[in-house]
Formats: sequence, C-alpha cells, structure tokens
Amino acid sequence: MTQTDLRVLTARCAERRAALLDRLGDGLLLVRTAPETLRNGDVHHAWRPGSDLAWLTGFPEPEAVLCAWWDTSGRRPKLATVLFVRSRDKAREIWDGPRVGVAAARRRFGVDRAFPIAELWKRLPELLAPHARLFTTLGRDPEFDRRLFEVFGRLAFSGRRANAPAHPIIQDPTPALAELRCIKDDLEIAALRRAAEITAAGHVAAMRAAAPGMTEYQVQEILEGAFRRAGSPRNGYESIVASGRNACILHYIENQRRIRRGELLLIDAGAEHDLYTADITRTFPVGAPFSDAQAAVYDVVLKAQKAAIRQVRPGRPWDAVHKTAVRELTKGLIGLGVLRGSPAKRIEKGDFRQWYMHGTSHWLGMDVHDAGPYQDRDGKPVKFRPGMVLTVEPGLYFAADDRSVAKELRGIGVRIEDDVLVTDGAPEVLTAACPKERREMARA
Ligand code: GLY
Ligand code: MN
Ligand code: MN
Repeated sequence: MTQTDLRVLTARCAERRAALLDRLGDGLLLVRTAPETLRNGDVHHAWRPGSDLAWLTGFPEPEAVLCAWWDTSGRRPKLATVLFVRSRDKAREIWDGPRVGVAAARRRFGVDRAFPIAELWKRLPELLAPHARLFTTLGRDPEFDRRLFEVFGRLAFSGRRANAPAHPIIQDPTPALAELRCIKDDLEIAALRRAAEITAAGHVAAMRAAAPGMTEYQVQEILEGAFRRAGSPRNGYESIVASGRNACILHYIENQRRIRRGELLLIDAGAEHDLYTADITRTFPVGAPFSDAQAAVYDVVLKAQKAAIRQVRPGRPWDAVHKTAVRELTKGLIGLGVLRGSPAKRIEKGDFRQWYMHGTSHWLGMDVHDAGPYQDRDGKPVKFRPGMVLTVEPGLYFAADDRSVAKELRGIGVRIEDDVLVTDGAPEVLTAACPKERREMARA
C-alpha cells in the first residue's frame, strides 16, 4: 500500500470509527485483532488481521487493540482513540520482521495515542473508569475475559466507581459493526472488484490447464499461482477443487484425488486483495464435452442462478434470491425426472433439500461469509440496499450412492457462484469476467 493509499484509508477508518460510536453511543469501545494460533511447537498458522480491527484502523500487525469513546469534555464531542500495539523489539524483529512500533502507529494510523500492548491491562482501569458501558465481545478468549473481569474487580475496590455499578454494562458491538460493514464504501468496492478480477483470471487459468490424470491439488496450484501472480497475497478461504463425486462434498478441501477424463471439476475459490475476497465457483468437465446428464444438471443450475441474480435489486428482501433459486431448481428437478408433481407442493414440503441443502447467498467482503445482518430489527429479511455485496450460488448435488435418482445423475455435483453488488438499479455481477456458459468455458 502506498503512503497516499494509507492516508486515504486512515481517513476513512476515522470516519468508520465515528459512525460506529455514533450507533453505539456513550461508552468505551474495545476491539482486538485476530489472535495468533499455534500449528505445532513454535510454528504458527499464517496470521491475518481480524477484519473488525482492520476495518476500523487498517492496522496490520498481531496483538493490536483499539479503544475509542466520545470525549465530551470539550465544547463539542470528539472521538478519542487509543491503539495498543507491539513495541519495537530488535531481537524479535530479527525472527519475525519489522514492527510498526508505538510511535509510528500513532503517526501513521491517525489515532490520538498509542501504547505498548504490554501496558493494556495496566491502563485499562483508567480508560474504563469513566464509562458506564463497555462495547466489547466476550466468550471468544477465556483468558481475555478473565483479565477483563479482574479489571472490573480492581475498579470496584478503587473507589473510582463509588456511585456507579461496580462494573460497566457490557454490550457486544458486533451487530452494529456488522450493519456498517455490510454497506461497502468506494474503497471497499474497488478492492472487491480487483479481488473478483483476479479470482476470475485464476479460474480461467484452471479451466485451461485442467486435464485428465492431474491431481486436484495440481489444478489448485495453477489456480492459486494465477492469484499470486496477479498480486493477491492469499486466498479468502481454502480452495475447493473437487472432481467427480467429491463435488457433492460441500466443504471438500482435501484436493488429493486424481481427475479422470469426462468428470466434472467443481472449483470454489477466491483471491484476496487488500483484505477483501471474492468467492467464485465454476463447474466444468475435464478433457471432454459435457455429457448429456451433466449438461442437463448444469443448465438447471445456471438458469436458477441467473433468475436468482435478477432479484438483487434495492428494496427486495434478501431471501427472494434463495426463494427464486429454490423455485427454479425444483422445476429443474421435476424436469430431470427426480421429483414429480407441482413445484409449489414440492417446495412446500422441502423435497429439494436432498439435492440442494445449502443457502443461496451470504454477504461478501473482508470475510468470505462477511459481517452483515440477515434480519432487520422486526425479524424480517433484510432488504437490499446499494453497496451491499453478496454471493449467488445455487447448486445440485446427487450423491454417488443416491438410489432415488437415475444412475447417470449419481455422482454429479454442480455449483455456480458469482459475487453481486447491489446498485441503485440492476445487479452488477462483479465476477462477470469468469465464463459460466458451457460453450464459453469450453473455449476459455
Ligand atoms: N466458498 C465458501 C462459500 O461459497 O460459501
Ligand atoms: Mn460463497
Ligand atoms: Mn464459494
């Protein structure tokens, strides 16, 4: 990220913090980044910033904590921000690389004050004392919860909360954060566009390269190599490269099998760009044209996906996408001879679930299953608003041992997934550059 990009992001993060505290009101906000996790011994899993903290600060290192509150001591309320970060440490930096450090954290990330993370628990009582409410998320890290309760204990006995409850009211800021993160701003949409572009190119590279006799992980290497070469440092999630009957395993990430000629290959993968991920699924036959049965299933899923995408318009409830997909898939299942009777009856009974057992959409952004509400405050499905980004990903999965369907359908799994931006009008498919028509994929 260039210095200018960082300045633009820092200014935007300040606006995001103010928007969040506007929603939450008076109280101390405390947000931590993602923890580091051990793989074994002294070897860690690859670390990625926690999305909430990254969205609020852009700060890129482990062990960072943001505190923010409305300072009402002046004539106008002003947002006060403190960032706790790792101190510079020559010895550690030899092993782990350079750290931003306390002084540069304050300068570069637009916060009022920065302190070493080692001082968090010492400074928290003082930060917390004036506040009746604490906005933080409990239940994720027992050690954090324990230390926080210890702070409450210390405060209660310090006399600093003499006429107030011994500890603050704790409120989880996640729903407020999710509502804000769900509507993407221009920086976020630009990052998602780039992630979509890179991801589409990777899928095309995989379509071109996939050949009978290759293992799934060899195709994965080509797909992810294309992501890396286009400038994406990591995936948004583990790539699913599922050949033949493996396509019916929804979260298949083993990717070890050797692909046979004529089998379908289902690839569900997304490249990350500036911490935003795309999420594309394509399904195509390897080393042969679609068989009649594969084509018939594929066409049902594609028709359902296109119809579902048309529902992505401002003001429409988000579950209209799923309902439309289910209606089209059910009609398709009747057409394939898998179900009998009227679509309405079959939908009412939920018969489609044997072959379509997942939802059609999720929000997309910094997280592949991104933050965002699915229901409004009355419990009704959220209505689409411009700036929301979601996936549309219907599929049909006929298990290899499913004796309730014709033999030629068994072992066929098809999913087609695109990423869609809600605009003022027609849906914008961010991943449109990735071919999904059968003849276009054959020519890719
Ligand atoms: N790749 C995960 C999903 O499609 O939800
Ligand atoms: Mn998805
Ligand atoms: Mn996916």
